[in-house]
Amino acid sequence: MVLRTRSAIVGATLLGMLLVAVPAWSQSDGKPAPTYSADIAPILQRSCQSCHRAGEIAPMSLMTYKEVRPWARAMKRQTASRSMPPWHYDKTIGVQHLKDDPSLSDAEIDMIARWADAGAPEGNPADVPKARAFKNFNDWQIGEPDMVVKFPAYPVPAAGPDLYGDLLAEIPIDEDRYIQAIQTRSSTPESHKVVHHALSYAVSRDAVQKGMAGEGGAFLVEYASGKNAEVYPEGTGVLLQKGQMARLSYHLHSVGKETRAEVELGIKFYPKGFVPKHVRWSRQLAQPTSPLDIPANTIARSDGYTQLHKPARIIAFQPHMHNLGKRQCLELIYPSSGTRMNSEIVSCANFNNNWHLTYNYADDTQPLVPAGTVLHNIQWHDNTKDNPRALDPKNWVGDGQRTIDEMGFFWVGWIELTEEEYQQQLAERRERQKRATSSDAGQQQQR
Ligand code: HEC
Repeated sequence: MVLRTRSAIVGATLLGMLLVAVPAWSQSDGKPAPTYSADIAPILQRSCQSCHRAGEIAPMSLMTYKEVRPWARAMKRQTASRSMPPWHYDKTIGVQHLKDDPSLSDAEIDMIARWADAGAPEGNPADVPKARAFKNFNDWQIGEPDMVVKFPAYPVPAAGPDLYGDLLAEIPIDEDRYIQAIQTRSSTPESHKVVHHALSYAVSRDAVQKGMAGEGGAFLVEYASGKNAEVYPEGTGVLLQKGQMARLSYHLHSVGKETRAEVELGIKFYPKGFVPKHVRWSRQLAQPTSPLDIPANTIARSDGYTQLHKPARIIAFQPHMHNLGKRQCLELIYPSSGTRMNSEIVSCANFNNNWHLTYNYADDTQPLVPAGTVLHNIQWHDNTKDNPRALDPKNWVGDGQRTIDEMGFFWVGWIELTEEEYQQQLAERRERQKRATSSDAGQQQQR
């Protein structure tokens, strides 16, 4: 008994010495294991630290080896399931070039797994790239705004469930104005910690008075911690009408001490009387053709359609569902030419009600669509026990405004084009695609 224990200790010590003497090797392929310094730190800088650093929304900081080391296995798990970074866009279907895409490649996910399996070695600290500079959360990224609209402060208790709801504020303008750039920010360091995300809309006073401002209005800007301000594409603007109010749809969470959530909108306007060449529209489109009908223990599919009457350039796609939301796809059904494929799926994304993500197409991949194109929403709601957010899969669920009711539409951001502009932009894009040596699989087909 005594002897065996001893030899086990000797063995363990020898093994320890071996591990110190040579670099860690991954068991599977005999290649040296990735190290934190050379391989993992660059990934964290690009895709994780915007949220995982002191004062940001994520529960822990991932800025140094010491901070990262204890999370190696959790990082392997969360990246393998593509839960982290939060980005639920389907990489196998449709348009693939998106703006500000933080997602990891399969090779990076594999690298994190091999690194964790090898015991999360540090490597040579000199290999860590220079720290990335992050903007102070409280800097206006759009420059000094012309107007700041403050929403009423909202008390968030020290502990409790996440809070969802709406706040309203006046927008003091005396004539219609076009917005050139807009940003939402939390006004204080402490409220920065409790605001998970917030969407703002311009709503009519009429809708507010009728108590219908809830899910409507013209979308202005999204705020999610770790996300950049939105500057509308060159030459485009969003119309703000005199008399409209600002509505903030918020998702707040408790952080262990009572906190006041304070959020404000900074707006830069085009000069008075100026009308930009293009209005950037953002609307809830393709509502289900009949009220949602989601039986117990079922994954239910439903469909919605919206026709665009003018040629358009589609800029952004954002699924909107509630807890049962599982997946949405945007299909473009073109006015038939009789000879060519006349529909295609340009985007699919899984849905998770904790994260309302906007997918902004890269300039070169923004779908260009002819007048009469139908936007087809194909969506699935998961009312089974496999969905951790399904409150009670034994019950039927239908449409409604409450969080426990369901919704299913998408926000689409687009600009309208004249027939001439459409033909010209289409020709330019075809030219570019011809010049590109390697054809880029999965990009939108051009008609
Ligand atoms: C947009 C902000 C954001 C980004 C980017 C992000 N995270 Fe997170 N992460 C969070 C939040 C918030 C949580 C807490 C759980 C939740 O809300 O989903 C979290 C949770 C986690 C957890 C689980 C912690 C636990 O308690 O088990 C891990 C591990 C993790 N993130 C790793 C990463 C890695 C690795 C990356 C980059 C590849 C990353 N995250 C990118 C916001 C982010």
